[in-house]
Parts: sequence; C-alpha cells; structure tokens
Amino acid sequence: MDLSSLPTPCALVDEARVAHNIERMAAQMRRLGVALRPHVKTAKSLPVAERQRAAGARGITVSTLKEAEQFFAAGFDDILYAVGIVPGKLAQVRALRERGCKLKVIVDSLPAAQAVAAAGHPFEVLIEIDTDDHRAGVKPEEARLLDIGRALHEGGAVLAGVMTHAGASYELHDPEALAAMAEQERARCVRAAERLRAAGLPCPIVSVGSTPTALSARRLDGVTEVRAGVYVFHDLVMLNVGVCNADEIALSVLATVIGHQDEKGWVLTDAGWMAMSRDRGTQAQPVDYGYGAVCDEAGRLIDGLVMSGANQEHGIVGWRDGHVDATLAQRFPLGTRLRILPNHACATAAQFPHYEVIGRDGALTRWERFGGW
Ligand SMILES: Cc1ncc(COP(=O)(O)O)c(C=O)c1O
Repeated sequence: MDLSSLPTPCALVDEARVAHNIERMAAQMRRLGVALRPHVKTAKSLPVAERQRAAGARGITVSTLKEAEQFFAAGFDDILYAVGIVPGKLAQVRALRERGCKLKVIVDSLPAAQAVAAAGHPFEVLIEIDTDDHRAGVKPEEARLLDIGRALHEGGAVLAGVMTHAGASYELHDPEALAAMAEQERARCVRAAERLRAAGLPCPIVSVGSTPTALSARRLDGVTEVRAGVYVFHDLVMLNVGVCNADEIALSVLATVIGHQDEKGWVLTDAGWMAMSRDRGTQAQPVDYGYGAVCDEAGRLIDGLVMSGANQEHGIVGWRDGHVDATLAQRFPLGTRLRILPNHACATAAQFPHYEVIGRDGALTRWERFGGW
C-alpha cells in the first residue's frame, strides 16, 4: 500500500474494515430476527449505503432532507427522516413522496401531529418515543401518546409506527449495562406500540436503535427494525463504550508531521480541528484520547500516543499521560505520515468532501460524500 500520492490531511477509509463492520451488524440482525434500516448520516456516501443494502439492509434512515434527496436520486426509495418534522419542511417531503419516495417522518408533539395531519397529504408518520431521558420523544406511558396517535390517524395522516433512539447508551461501557439499556429501549418502545394498538390505532413499525444497543441486544421481540449508523466506521467513542476493537475503526485522518517542540515533547502535524472536528466525545469516557488516537502510516496504533491539542490547521501529538518525550522528534521526523483515529466518525467525516479508500488489494480509490442541508 502506497499512500505517498495522497495530499494531507485527508479522510482515509479501510474498505476491508467497512465490509467487516457491515457484515458484523448484518449478522447480529439476522441472529435477532429483525430488519436493519441503517442510518446513512455517518458516511453520507453512496458506495457505503450500497454495501449495506447488498448485505441485506431494508430501507435507510437519514438525518437531513438533503440526504433523502441524494439517496432517493441514487435509487433508495424507502427512507425514514429521523429528526422531528416541522411544517416548513413538509412541502419538500411531499414533493419527494409525489416523485415516488416512500419518505416517512417523525413527530413527538400534538402540534406537530396536527400540522402534519392537516397538510392535505397522507404523510406516513412515526411517533418518537423517549425511552432513556436522553433527547426528544414522548414517554410510553404518557396520555398524549394516544392523543398524538389519534390526531394523526383521524386527521388524515398514516400512523406508521413508533421509533426511539437510546442515545444514553453512549455513556455506558459495561456489557451488562449495555444489554440492559438495549432491553429498556426495546421494552419501552414496544410498550408504546402496544398502547396505541390497544386504543384501536395502527402501529405496524417498531423502530429502535443506536450502534451500542444494536450490538448489545440479546432479544428484540416486538421490534420490526433497527437503525444503527456509526457502526460502518466505528470510532474511539465506540471503542470506549466497548462495542468495537481498535482494528475495526475504518476511518482515520492521514496527517503529515510539520514540526516539533522538543522541550514540550510535541510533534506538530497538518491535521488540526478543521480535519478532526472539535468533537471531544471521549473526554468523559474511561480513556480520553484528546482529539484522536495516533497510528503509524500503516495504521498500527501507537499505544498511549494521542492528539492532545488542536488549532485550526495544526495538530499537537504527545503522550496521553502528558510526559515530555524529546525522542519523539527522532522517531517521527519532518514529513512522517501518521494516521489519527477519530473520536466521532460522523463529525470527522463531515470535514471532508470525499474518502480516500484503501481497497482490499491495497489499491487506492475514492468514494464521494456530501455534507450540508
Ligand atoms: C434517530 C437516530 N436513529 C439512529 C441513530 C444511529 O445511532 P448510531 O450512530 O449510534 O448507530 C441516530 C444517531 O444519532 C439517531 O439520531
């Protein structure tokens, strides 16, 4: 493998690792007997989504209507837009649906449900359920769950189901706690579906998921589909959660050493926060990797070496425990190339217009990606 032709910083993807991660999640879903509707917001890249579909994924999840537009244009027609819909976006959703896209939206309030139902189009809508006090959603036992369901069903929309995302799972790192969180996500979302059905309302879809809960679930009775996203690349946050190994992290930033500060034990690179993002997701986790974990050019992790600081276009590399090591300058002289593993793959990937992909045979290719809204 020769990376010398690549400009730095660039986003490097290991195709074999992506394939492994996709197959690992697909196998887990087969074992649990549920469909996988991957969240494509991590890679925002057609070649990645095509590989997920080839491995059995059914439909996709998106975080922006731009993703819906782009993936629909590329032949993905079963799409869940998993961010609460507002009236101002309904015209774009409707236009996509009238072109044949089975685009579904989510609501978690009565005003939103009433607005969607009154919009004069049979929008397919899922109710967002809060199963972990993490973010948005209606609690499964709340009275307004049925009010929202009725407002949709009786108001002209199609009540397609319920969905939840146990984002609180990112704060865990114990396998038993993760399995318990997956069970809580499952049980509370299924409970919401049962309440709707008991009230005579339809609820065909029960959609759950995050990468930690998807990989930790032991049973998913009553669930019809799982949405997981970051698993295609994994990252240091997932490493800390304990749902991947370092050699499953498929995205890194290729950087070049541009200088040193020997008395501080610093190696300076051309990958600052503009390349890695400002995401410090490992800060509160068992291992704080700073802005990233450092690997050699071949991708071998250098245990204990991290990107401890970041300016816009400068990265500072040093030992995680902060000890000053003047020999780093000899070990990594000017021009040395390093790979930096990201804290949060979605955020780091978003800094780049495309991926430089190391194929299974070591040859380089390029996968386009997009950003924006
Ligand atoms: C609504 C929703 N579903 C699914 C996911 C996928 O989670 P993960 O990236 O942990 O797989 C996310 C991620 O933020 C999300 O917001």
